Amino acid sequence: MCGIVGYIGKQEATPILVEGLKKLEYRGYDSAGIALYNEGNTDIFKIVGKLDNLKGLTDKEEPKGSIGIGHTRWATHGKPSTPNSHPHTSANGKFTVVHNGIIENYMKLKEELKGKGYEFKSETDTEVIPNLIQENYDGDLEEAVRKTIARLEGAYALVILSSEEPDKLITVREDSPLIIGLGEEEYFIGSDIPAILKHTDEVYILDDGEMAVITRAGVELSTVTGDQVDKDVFKVDWDPGMAEKSGFDHFMLKEIHEQPETLRRCTAGRLTETDIELANFNLTAQDINSYNKIYIVACGTAYNSGLVGKYAIEKLAKIPVEIDVASEFRYRDPLVDESTLVIVVSQSGETADTLAALREAQDKGAKVVAICNVVGSTIAREADDVIYLQAGPEIAVASTKAYIGMLMSFYMLAIYFARAKKTLSDIDSKRLIDGLKALPNQVQDIINNSEEDIKELSKGYADHEHAFFIGRSIDYAVAVEGQLKLKEVSYLHSEAYPAGELKHGTLALIEEGIPVIALATQKSVIDKTLSNIKEVKARGGVVTGIIIEGEEEIEDLDYRIEIPKADELLTAILSVVPTQLLAYYVAVERGCDVDQPRNLAKSVTVE
Ligand code: F6R
Repeated sequence: MCGIVGYIGKQEATPILVEGLKKLEYRGYDSAGIALYNEGNTDIFKIVGKLDNLKGLTDKEEPKGSIGIGHTRWATHGKPSTPNSHPHTSANGKFTVVHNGIIENYMKLKEELKGKGYEFKSETDTEVIPNLIQENYDGDLEEAVRKTIARLEGAYALVILSSEEPDKLITVREDSPLIIGLGEEEYFIGSDIPAILKHTDEVYILDDGEMAVITRAGVELSTVTGDQVDKDVFKVDWDPGMAEKSGFDHFMLKEIHEQPETLRRCTAGRLTETDIELANFNLTAQDINSYNKIYIVACGTAYNSGLVGKYAIEKLAKIPVEIDVASEFRYRDPLVDESTLVIVVSQSGETADTLAALREAQDKGAKVVAICNVVGSTIAREADDVIYLQAGPEIAVASTKAYIGMLMSFYMLAIYFARAKKTLSDIDSKRLIDGLKALPNQVQDIINNSEEDIKELSKGYADHEHAFFIGRSIDYAVAVEGQLKLKEVSYLHSEAYPAGELKHGTLALIEEGIPVIALATQKSVIDKTLSNIKEVKARGGVVTGIIIEGEEEIEDLDYRIEIPKADELLTAILSVVPTQLLAYYVAVERGCDVDQPRNLAKSVTVE
């Protein structure tokens, strides 16, 4: 899960490549590098560490050239080091490659090439590619690339630069995202839209098995087996400013603040008075009535959104819902067939396990609906139906606004299914839809009213090593997301428990001063949750309650964070916001790298 870029045109390539990589740094930040063709040579500049190191190097060396490629790495084969950084070059120095993905048969290819006298400089799987191209080159770069691709097993997005044919770049895609931005006699390649957004909003999105030969005169698209491909130009409707920090210290904070807007975008044109309208949605009422089970499959935060989705769909549409982590689902021969609907959830639309789960479900005859943010991503394209979050780019590694968009999508889907199944009356549907319409302003109110208090509260958390989140029903689902956010950005160990489960073991860990975040927004179980809070207090736990405003009878709290009144089913979108702000401010207080937590990457395109 690395980020790759390329440029061919009239301008100096270095600033374009480095800036493009900066926008992709969320895809990996172990090392970075660029290669430029200049006056007969390919010059390579690469360095371990974050992109600022590469920036320092290129500022000093001032590489020249108007054609080049670049890479920001998240290590899979070989430790983060300068030799293992991309770009990688063939033994004769004439073929240079950046690669995102994994070449599964690289050991075999490496042995074969070594047998022919090739020497390798890195531990990576990638290095076999430029060497295979060298081996296959016979005066035609395109042909050499095709022959090379035919030997590769695995996932790859590649950009190839050669001093043998220096006026072109060749790109190939198989199971790793790649787009080509179209300018005036100049072209921009990127793994993802933010890399090229500053330059153009017109792109080609490559599909698996496709390649492009890009010169200053244009882009020729074909399949890797040589058939011509005609493709529509895709118009990106993201504003470049959306990919910038807009004055916030971190993308995570910016994205938390964008959530009211995210909700408005997500619901735009989809809410009528009593119904949900989903444009281009193919599932018919007859289909929906034919399903006897729904599976929700996803990873991480996307999975956590599914915990709320399960409550909403079961409650409103009365269809049993199972939920599974994609990396488990795909390997356990799940009980899925034509009468099962599978919903996959993915911000990036490229998560390898979620994609594999989607394919597994389709192979078993199930229809798959994707809830996805990135338009044109692989999951979005392969699913039978898609609900786009319309959240715009999410740059921080820790997902916030995408999570809230996923929740909104589940609520809309649950109402949509319920209306098709006739399990939701006009009156109840209107009440819920009115509730959905109120959420953007309510989220804004929470940010306005509680951010400063949470910032202050976070100071008391910074020195702790453990925290617990508890809640019942939907509050528990949100607790699971709250604990993930806290641990991934602040490295403070946190766990979530159904409040009633605490006394079955974990209560043993509650001692004087341990912070516990209790979500208590569900009226139907509030008394039970209050008893659990008392159990924690009795053992010395320090309890922060996330509660509905005006709930004066909730005593025993050390700190109170209030959220506006809402339908019990919809509170997840509100109660998660304080947990996101808490995670953010605790991480800042502990001096963590909030936008790029250690060991993590934004888009996990390996299993
Ligand atoms: C956590 C986080 C991850 C992702 C997970 C799935 O903040 O962002 O847990 O949710 O890697 O990613 P997508 O949604 O792109 O499939």
